[in-house]
Amino acid sequence: MLISGNGSNLQAIIDACKQKKINGTVAAVFSNKTDAFGLERAREAQIPAHALTASQFADRAAFDRELMLEIDAYAPDLVVLAGYMRILSPEFVGHYAGRLINIHPSLLPKYPGLNTHSQVLENGDEVHGTSVHFVTEELDGGPVILQAEVPVFTGDDEDDITARVQNQEHAIYPLVVSWFIEGRLEMRENCAWLDGGKL
Ligand code: GRF
Repeated sequence: MLISGNGSNLQAIIDACKQKKINGTVAAVFSNKTDAFGLERAREAQIPAHALTASQFADRAAFDRELMLEIDAYAPDLVVLAGYMRILSPEFVGHYAGRLINIHPSLLPKYPGLNTHSQVLENGDEVHGTSVHFVTEELDGGPVILQAEVPVFTGDDEDDITARVQNQEHAIYPLVVSWFIEGRLEMRENCAWLDGGKL
């Protein structure tokens, strides 16, 4: 799994593995931030935790080449991005095509990119949510696998809606990972398929 920060989604997936809701394990955690709290969560769960920092590398391509080497040493079935706040090189995305997923805090295709919660509040949206999607070269533009909606109430601030969204994320992300691990989910012709049906 790839993270940059708190790692609450990482924790949800670790817990789901422990509870056998996912028939697999988190092989390793990588962060582009040395102080990401998610690294501590990984260590706590006896999962190898690695940090790579951008300043160690000449450019994005070099960073991602090293990351790919280190990830591939674990031979993972699936690469899970959970709050990984770094743009991936086309080589990285191509290398893991069809086995690379992300969770994005909006109802895609609405609000790709950063600051989704503040945009929801500024626009007065009454519904917000989160999306799990396959990663393609288009930022937050790959095929959506599963979404969860949450209401936005009058008087909500960013913390309120972040908490509400994350609560849903912790339910849907482990579920999607379990589908993939069971061989029920795939990306074909730039679409997500579940149990042989196009989503
Ligand atoms: C999540 O809300 C996710 O949608 C976004 O970044 C946040 C990561 O949170 N991509 P955490 O590090 O898993 O707690």
